[in-house]
Amino acid sequence: MRLRAVDGPPAAVDADVLAVPIYREDAEMAADLAELDAASGGAIRRAIDWGEFNPLEHAVSLVDAGDLPVDRLLLLNAAGRGRGAWRARRLAAVATRRLNGRNAPRLALWLRDGEDDGAWTAAAAGAVAGTYRSHGIYGRVRDTDAMKRSVEEVLCVGAPSQEALDRGAEIGAGIAFGRDLANRSANDLNPEEMAREARALEADGCTVEVLEPDEMERLGMGLILGVGQGAAHPPRLVVIKLPGWDTASDGDRLAIVGKGVCFDSGGLSIKPAENMGDMKHDKSGAAAVVAAARTVARLAPDTPLMAVAPMVENMPGGNAQRPGDVVRAMNGMAVEVTNTDAEGRLILADAMTWAEREGATHIVDVATLTGAQAVAFGEHISSYFARPRDWGDRVGAAAERAGEWFWEMPLAVEYRASYDTPHADIVNSGTRDGSLIKSAVFLSEFVTVPWVHVDIAGTAYHSAEKPYGPKGASGAAVAALVQLALDFRDGV
Ligand code: BES
Ligand code: MN
Ligand code: ZN
Repeated sequence: MRLRAVDGPPAAVDADVLAVPIYREDAEMAADLAELDAASGGAIRRAIDWGEFNPLEHAVSLVDAGDLPVDRLLLLNAAGRGRGAWRARRLAAVATRRLNGRNAPRLALWLRDGEDDGAWTAAAAGAVAGTYRSHGIYGRVRDTDAMKRSVEEVLCVGAPSQEALDRGAEIGAGIAFGRDLANRSANDLNPEEMAREARALEADGCTVEVLEPDEMERLGMGLILGVGQGAAHPPRLVVIKLPGWDTASDGDRLAIVGKGVCFDSGGLSIKPAENMGDMKHDKSGAAAVVAAARTVARLAPDTPLMAVAPMVENMPGGNAQRPGDVVRAMNGMAVEVTNTDAEGRLILADAMTWAEREGATHIVDVATLTGAQAVAFGEHISSYFARPRDWGDRVGAAAERAGEWFWEMPLAVEYRASYDTPHADIVNSGTRDGSLIKSAVFLSEFVTVPWVHVDIAGTAYHSAEKPYGPKGASGAAVAALVQLALDFRDGV
C-alpha cells in the first residue's frame, strides 16, 4: 500500500472514496464538516437525516458523495473515545477494512483538521493493518480475485509530513508480521519454528541467538525447563539483538521480553475443553516482541534494543511438571509450582533474569498472562504495572502516541504474602482474588532494574471479526513497543 500526504481541502481531493470521521462535537456539525457538506450539495446532512449514518462506536456508512469528485463518502463514527492517535489508527483501519474486496483502490482519508505527525503515523499503521487477512497463511484461499482486492493507495488529506506516513506504514507491516506469527497454529509454530522465524531477522542486521535446553540447564533456567518438560517440542530461548545493542553510547539498554507459550493446555492443571483452542494465542507476547524488533531494526537500527522470547509448549505429557514440584529459578529462588497453568510468569521470570545478565538496564515484558485481565478490561485495553512508576509513565506515553490504549494497575507488594509457602521461597499461584495484580507481584521478584509488565490477555486476539480488525490476532503491543524503543533511543 502507498500512503501519500496531500493538501486539502478535502472537497477538492479526487479518489474512489473519501473517508470522513464524524466526531462527538458534530452533533451540531462543526465548521470544517459543514464546509465539506456544502461542497457535496448536502450529501452528509442527507445521510445523517435519512438515518443512514449509524451513531454507534466504529460504525461506518458508505454513502453517495453528491457533487464531490469522489465516487462515495465513507462516514466513520467516532463518538466514543476522543481524538488523537488511538482514534486515528482505528478510523484508518475501519476505513481500509470496509473497502476490502471492493473496487476502490484509491482512498482519501481526512482526519479533519489539526491532527499531528504522531496521529498520522498511527493512522498509516492502521490503514495498512486494516487490509490484513489471515486466511492466506495456510492452504487454499477460496477468495476470488475480486474478493482479494484492497485499498492500494491512501491519500492522507492534511498530513503534515510524508516521513510520518512512511514510518506508520512500516509499523503497519510489523503489526501484520506479529499477527501472522500469533495466528499460526500450535502444530506449526512450535518453539524451534519461532527460532527459525527469528533467524530471518539477520537479514535486517540483527544478531540472533537461540538457547537450547542443555544450555538452559547450564545457566540454571529451571523455570523455563520445568514448564517445557511435558511437551514433545523442547523449549527455546530466542534472542534478537539490534546493531545498536552493543554500541549504546550512554549505556542504557532496553530489553523487551514476550511470553511465548505456543500452546497453553494448562499442563496437568489442565484447562476446560471449551475455548482451549484459543490458547494457541498464548505466544502473542513473543510474537509482539519479535515483530517490534524487526520493525525497529528497519526504522532505527542503532536503537539499543534486545527482544527475548522464552518459547515453550505447556503440555500434560508423561514427563510433565506436577503440582507441588519445586524448581530452581535462574536467580536462585526456589519456586513451588502449585498450579501448572500459571506457566507464563515462570518462563518470563527466567527470561528477565537472563536479560539483566546480558546488560538490560530497562525491561518491558508483554504477556497474555491472566484470564482476569481479559475479564476486567476486555478487548480494547491492555493493563500495565511499573516499578518505578516514572518508567511506567514513559511506557504509557509511548503506547498512547502509538494509538494503543494502556491503563496502569497498582503493583501492590502487600500481596506478596499470598505467595508464601513452607516448602520454597515462593509459590507460582495464589488464590483467584486479585489474580491480575498478584501475577505482576510474582514477576516483580525476578527483576531488579526498571521494569514494566504489560498484560495483553484481553487485547491480543479477537474471538470474532470487528470493524477495526479480523478474528484472531490483533497485533497488540507491537506499535507501542516500537514507539517506546524509538523514544528510548532518543532519550524521551
Ligand atoms: N494463558 C493464560 C491466561 C489467559 C487466559 C490468557 C484466557 C487469555 C485468555 C495463563 O497462562 C493462565 O492460565 N493464567 C491463569 C493463572 C492462574 C492459574 C493463577 C488464569 O488467569 O486463570
Ligand atoms: Mn496457563
Ligand atoms: Zn498461559
